[in-house]
Amino acid sequence: MCKMGQWIWINGSVQPMADARIDVQDRGFQFADGVYEVVRTYQGRTFTLAEHLNRLAKSADALGIPLPLTTAALAGEIRKFIAKEGLHEGMVYIQLSRGVAERNHVYPVDMHPTLLFYGTPLSELPPIGGGQGMKVLPVPDERWRKCWIKSIALLANILAKNEAVAIGYDEAVFIDDGRVTEGASTNFFAVIDGIVVTAPNGPKILPGITRQILLDIAPSIGEAIIERPIMESEIANASEMFLTSSTRELMWISHWGNRHVSTECGPVTRKLHAAFRDYVRKDTGLGEVASKPTATPASRVLA
Ligand code: PDD
Repeated sequence: MCKMGQWIWINGSVQPMADARIDVQDRGFQFADGVYEVVRTYQGRTFTLAEHLNRLAKSADALGIPLPLTTAALAGEIRKFIAKEGLHEGMVYIQLSRGVAERNHVYPVDMHPTLLFYGTPLSELPPIGGGQGMKVLPVPDERWRKCWIKSIALLANILAKNEAVAIGYDEAVFIDDGRVTEGASTNFFAVIDGIVVTAPNGPKILPGITRQILLDIAPSIGEAIIERPIMESEIANASEMFLTSSTRELMWISHWGNRHVSTECGPVTRKLHAAFRDYVRKDTGLGEVASKPTATPASRVLA
């Protein structure tokens, strides 16, 4: 199971996590006025850190919150921090808020953003094609239309996810006007008529880093992934479905609502996952990605 790291970086100073304090008037706390990122580490090396920091910069820009450091300087701080923390298999959580100000819906004139990050160890991933398969519950997409911003305002996501978990599912998948958009904390893919499809980037999905890597590498293994709207009515024809996220890579789906989809991971999902692991090896310069069968319920492992 996960446990918190020992240290936290807040506005340039590294402090023991146990001593860390955030002001009650921080707008992140009072208004969810902020953005975040989750970056995977493999054996102490960050994976696609530049891509995550670029997305953080775009999210921050959309809210008009200046990043106090350049993305290059922030990357350097994160790498130093990971070494100090001794984080191996894990994730780095990065959060930027508009900072402390007297509570007022109107932005403060004098802005002092709060930037922080910390590491969390993660349990090893199941081997490719392993694990139990995700049970997903389709739910109405009641989120706003700026889902491309990785906002810390996640209430609609956590309500949906907990609705799913409460009745034995692992993840909620949003349906927006008949279209399958994405999971509460994952992107969604399906194999329909032998073709891998995923929803196009736009107002109702987060442009996932894992999703983009799959789009980029699929042709090199003879697969094409088509970005197009996926209607919920098409799901009955899907031979395979899977979810993606930085923390969990690819997760095959065993159930869609009360429909049993598969008892095992399908061949296309396996093939894409193997190619993804190759990409991780190349990107990090590491050997094998550590994995072992896990008994942790999929909903409990961070997605
Ligand atoms: N979630 N869609 C949503 C709504 C997400 O929150 C996430 C990531 C993804 C997958 O994006 P990526 O491949 O870049 O991780 C898609 C992170 C892991 C989280 O909130 O913990």
